[in-house]
Amino acid sequence: MNELILILDFGGQYKELISRMTRNLNVFSEIKSGKISADEVKKLSPKGIILTGGPNSVYAENAPQCDPAIFELGIPVLGICYGMQMMCHILGGRVEPCGVGEYGRIATEIIDNSSLLHGIKLDPKMLMSHTDQVCQLPQGFKRTASTANCPNAACEDSSRNLYGVQFHPEVEHSDCGRDIMRNFLFNICGASGSYHLDDYIEKRIKAIRETVGSKRVLLALSGGVDSSVCAALLSKAIGEQLTCIFVDHGLMRLNEGDNIENIFSKKKLNFIRVNAAGRFLKKLKGAKKPEQKRKIIGEEFVRIFEDESRKLGDIEFLAQGTIYPDIIESGGEFGDTIKSHHNVGGLPENLAFEGIIEPLSGLFKDEVRIIGHKLGLPGALVNRQPFPGPGLAIRVMGEVTRKKLDLLRLADHIVCEEIGKLRKKPQQYFAVLTDTRSVGVKGDHRTYDYVVAVRAIETSDFMTCEYTPLPHKILNRISSKITGEIKQVSRVVYDITGKPPATVEWE
Ligand code: XMP
Repeated sequence: MNELILILDFGGQYKELISRMTRNLNVFSEIKSGKISADEVKKLSPKGIILTGGPNSVYAENAPQCDPAIFELGIPVLGICYGMQMMCHILGGRVEPCGVGEYGRIATEIIDNSSLLHGIKLDPKMLMSHTDQVCQLPQGFKRTASTANCPNAACEDSSRNLYGVQFHPEVEHSDCGRDIMRNFLFNICGASGSYHLDDYIEKRIKAIRETVGSKRVLLALSGGVDSSVCAALLSKAIGEQLTCIFVDHGLMRLNEGDNIENIFSKKKLNFIRVNAAGRFLKKLKGAKKPEQKRKIIGEEFVRIFEDESRKLGDIEFLAQGTIYPDIIESGGEFGDTIKSHHNVGGLPENLAFEGIIEPLSGLFKDEVRIIGHKLGLPGALVNRQPFPGPGLAIRVMGEVTRKKLDLLRLADHIVCEEIGKLRKKPQQYFAVLTDTRSVGVKGDHRTYDYVVAVRAIETSDFMTCEYTPLPHKILNRISSKITGEIKQVSRVVYDITGKPPATVEWE
């Protein structure tokens, strides 16, 4: 049994970062709804509790509140931003709107560094993002840090083991955030730091074998990180009792389908590749609107998966590459933004399975990648950038044809090759084939050909992003190569829009 840090969610956009940071420091953590009762918390017996930030004002009607009895359990509590305000509000302090809101990296004066802020350098810059602040601390609390506009930037009542910070130690933009978290976990909660992924594979293999016995398991393999790691883990656990169906919808990037087949056909499992490009293109004929295309692809995927699995006879278990962020309890319950899931496929409802196996469901993406490396999957697959389920169909604007797809694959290959040479790569980068043609001139001839757009973004969670300020040298090389090597492209443009107002994908 792992030592547990319980993260109670009040709609904070950084809740996953808190959990990843504690796990990164080798302390297991889980995110639960802020509505959890003190009794339930007691049963889970955590070493410590962290209250997340959130978009509400504690004094507003219906503002989310934790069970006040949580503060009586004797378990150390760290309130972050809204979490600190809520704790102070419940315990008799006063929270009011700030005269001046603070946003961004703010110079913070450490007043008392005896426990939570122990060893923190003088005047770190910490990420602040708040319009309310604690104006009066509850009885028994003392101020431990302040900024020019926020006198109570951190506080504590060490006799009750209650701590609060108005800033966000969980984000990279804060100096010393990791040190503060380390102080909380190890000095205050007394965690031992014994959470490691080293024995994860052995433990899961044992559990999978116990569940499956001599029965069979079916997995829809897309070639994405999660389903690939899931396949590799299952194949190690149960070998040929596993069957993977890879529906190649013909909307993959250059050579992607063959690469996936190469990797998995060498493993001990039954690998079925269904080459369904023709079927998808036929269904997509005439479809021009993004949502229409997504729907067609999703439905066709399920139909093909059903057809293939029926051919295999009754298979008892269905495996899925679900990961922790997909199932985090209370996702968006109090939050402002909810990331919608738009995965191709989903569970075919009329297929009956005895059980579902989700061997990665407790892991974050970075942890899944570590497991993938440990299982010997190639780096190119494990570190692959996100790729949407509907594939290139939503990067070809308007109607999708084989010709347009072939064109886009070449342009995308050039974009990925050139940007891939950068030491620090954007989180996602690709080409889009617009539905616009433009006049050009190639070798004294007038041309009237496609416009290709290049997209490269910086993001931590894909819910918002900034465009990457790529060096002009690279943009120049991409443009020359695309227009030089692909006859049907006359112009290349660079997308300099963030999200919002745009989205990452063009459709
Ligand atoms: P958007 O375009 O919504 O993209 O800003 C955010 C992230 O999600 C990916 N994306 C998808 N992934 N199925 C997926 O599995 C989809 O339909 C889909 N649409 C967008 C996108 O590539 C980006 O990483």
